[in-house]
Amino acid sequence: MFWAIGIYCLDFIPKGYVMTTPNRLVLASVKDVPLDDVIAVHVAGHDLALYNVDGTFYASRDLCNHGNARLSDGFLDGDVIECPLHGGCFNVVSGEPCAAPVTHAMVTYSVAVVDDQVVLTAPEELEFENVE
Ligand code: FES
Repeated sequence: MFWAIGIYCLDFIPKGYVMTTPNRLVLASVKDVPLDDVIAVHVAGHDLALYNVDGTFYASRDLCNHGNARLSDGFLDGDVIECPLHGGCFNVVSGEPCAAPVTHAMVTYSVAVVDDQVVLTAPEELEFENVE
């Protein structure tokens, strides 16, 4: 049983990133995410958009669910990310759509700041990113 859990956790360790605890993945240093901006992060084989909204961090899948566009290439205005392709908008706090043409919530992930690093606190959420 414990052997199986160990293998499961190792699957989440990305190259170039440090696992801070068995249940956390480092996404970026706080200083690497500009205030009121969004950056792209690749972790454990997944592309995430990491948002800094007035000093609070949020993360989502880095792919608009309307088409093939990276939300990290979009425009962050307050807590709203505008997709660069068709202008659809999502609230980065709730993930809910807030402007057409998007109609479904984006996939979001739980993050926290630990020792000046933004960490993914529930890496298992990456497994369910395709579930909508
Ligand atoms: S691809 Fe994002 S709104 Fe169309």
